[in-house]
Amino acid sequence: MIVVSLIAMDRKGHYESLFNTAGQIVREDCRADVRLKKICKLLSSSVAHYDWVGFYITEPGHRELVLGPYVGSPTDHIRIPFGRGICGQAADVKNTVLVQDVSQESNYLSCSIHVRAEIVVPVIRKDLVVAEIDIDSHTSSPFTEEDERFLSALAVLVEPII
Ligand code: SME
Repeated sequence: MIVVSLIAMDRKGHYESLFNTAGQIVREDCRADVRLKKICKLLSSSVAHYDWVGFYITEPGHRELVLGPYVGSPTDHIRIPFGRGICGQAADVKNTVLVQDVSQESNYLSCSIHVRAEIVVPVIRKDLVVAEIDIDSHTSSPFTEEDERFLSALAVLVEPII
């Protein structure tokens, strides 16, 4: 139990540090897509259980997500209608969708056979989902409340550059 708490505390501190670095990237003077890609690289290189990290951007005026900057294996899912897959579900409910075991999820679009778990966090502006942060993991049940908190804060941080 003590070991578990220490790991949890360690993860929290690590995410605080990553959040600060992401904030510096958001404020950089370069194209928004370049900054979003840098954030993908930061997350995938700094968190062991983040194997695919990407952004989906909502097509303006449409209920459809379009693949944006990402780091990880190429995916066939370039455009995803709201409601389809884990990404589409998160867009529909305007809330985080966390699946600790994708084999148990019927409404799931597979990107790679190695993926075991996925978390999708919407980026919301004026009550509209304008983008999403999508993370795939090759580890089973890897996500904790710390991941949810960190990624929700990150979604607020990047909203102005979407
Ligand atoms: N698995 C997602 C599709 C996106 S890929 O993971 C990059 C889904 O079910 O919506």
